[in-house]
Amino acid sequence: MLMQGKDDNKEKWQNSRREACYTLSIEGTVTVCNLYERKCMSHHRVELKDVSFAYPDGHQALNSVSFLLGHGESVGVVGANGAGKSTLLSVLTGIQFPQKGAVRVGDLPVNKNTLAEVRRSVGLVFQEPDDQLFMTSVYDDVAFGPRNYRLDQEEVDKRVMEALEEVGIAHLKDRPPYKLSGGEKKLAAIAAVISMKPDILIMDEPTASLDPQARRKIMNILKGFSHTKIITSHDLDMIMDMCSRTIVLKNGQIVADGNTVDILSNEKLMEECGLEIPLALQNCPVCGFDKHREKNHE
Ligand SMILES: Nc1ncnc2c1ncn2[C@@H]1O[C@H](COP(=O)(O)OP(=O)(O)OP(=O)(O)O)[C@@H](O)[C@H]1O
Ligand SMILES: [Mg+2]
Repeated sequence: MLMQGKDDNKEKWQNSRREACYTLSIEGTVTVCNLYERKCMSHHRVELKDVSFAYPDGHQALNSVSFLLGHGESVGVVGANGAGKSTLLSVLTGIQFPQKGAVRVGDLPVNKNTLAEVRRSVGLVFQEPDDQLFMTSVYDDVAFGPRNYRLDQEEVDKRVMEALEEVGIAHLKDRPPYKLSGGEKKLAAIAAVISMKPDILIMDEPTASLDPQARRKIMNILKGFSHTKIITSHDLDMIMDMCSRTIVLKNGQIVADGNTVDILSNEKLMEECGLEIPLALQNCPVCGFDKHREKNHE
């Protein structure tokens, strides 16, 4: 059932990427009026108001979720397996539509009519790269977005090579994505989003299955991205490094939303939500050194 859902998502996303491109090509280009509106609106804002979502089999994955992210905020979304993190991101990007509540990206409500416009400003890296990569070479997957912005070949090539170099996989550009390792696929999926230069960056488990150097590279890319970003992860040390604000989900509900260090150092809260405080905040197992409060250490 879950696999079926994932296949549905993949198809929906791929179709919607094509739909977004189709909309662009029939519009010719974004109109002057649209450009003006896009400039005026707070297009880095993200808002969920009382959002509830149940899957077709009746499973309630999100329950009355509300938050508002302002321009430039860097937010971690954490929670145990099945807490609703990926579902939250799919609702935010219009892959699923909630049965109740409202989602806004920039000044636009997220619905079928606004989807193409919303997708032009939001870059989503899927938890499963196989849900995102569908071309016959890594190059073509990373070029997909820029090509559909009707950029000329020189600019497309520049963006693709820059993105591939940034994530460290330029040498894989001619390989078919399905022949890559899990970590390499993840990096290709991240490059495919970076090449589109989104206003808002959303990443579902960006460091999962990456080696330490690749993880550091992705963290540097995230640090360099100054607009709004939303990152889900079980890598709580990365969340601590990247995100000033953290939202904790449990059984599809927000149980905490606030300062990252305050939240991630709250042992009771972490335990109740099936999490552990990040290594960087844990006491030394040998001498008991409290890294967080920096006491007891001679
Ligand atoms: N297609 C589906 N149909 C029915 N239930 C689903 C479907 N996809 C996910 N779920 C359920 O919705 C809940 C939330 O799933 P979700 O994938 O959002 O969790 P998550 O927090 O991202 O977990 P993880 O950390 O494992 O990635 C889970 O209980 C999951 O079993
Ligand atoms: Mg998930």
